[in-house]
Amino acid sequence: MTSITTFAPALSAGTVDQCRIIDLPRIGSERGNLTFIEGGVHVPFSVERVYYLYDVPGGATRGAHAHRTLQQFIVAASGSFDVVVSDGRQERVFSLNRSYYGLYLPRMIWRDLVNFSSGSFGLVLASRHYDEADYIRDHNEFLRFVGAA
Ligand code: TYD
Repeated sequence: MTSITTFAPALSAGTVDQCRIIDLPRIGSERGNLTFIEGGVHVPFSVERVYYLYDVPGGATRGAHAHRTLQQFIVAASGSFDVVVSDGRQERVFSLNRSYYGLYLPRMIWRDLVNFSSGSFGLVLASRHYDEADYIRDHNEFLRFVGAA
């Protein structure tokens, strides 16, 4: 039921091709469904932080930054939203709308979270504690950093 995967460490700058949907285990019964996520097993990093997005007003955009080292895994635990990812060369849109899969983001990926449905709940697992110094919030700086300016 649960597949165990060995992941290579993500040391170099991420690419859009490394952003991928990961299916999660689902334990279903007449009492409802249960999904779980284990760091290093279902996601390719140790989970040091969990945060969530909720009460996002219609039309609002979250994200609009990249991370120097942080890896993340994003699940639409309820409702739906889109994650627009870019490595400075290529862009792709991932639509998240189920609680049994999520989007893995390696480091150095610019992301915009858009099109939040009413009542949506975005669960984010992160490989490190919060550190503002890890953020790149200026898009031009990001493009320079990845050599795409
Ligand atoms: P930010 O990561 O920019 O949110 P989003 O990408 O969803 O738009 O964070 C918004 C604010 O919350 C910012 O001031 C930093 C703060 N914050 C923390 O203090 N700890 C955290 O773990 C996170 C994710 C954000």
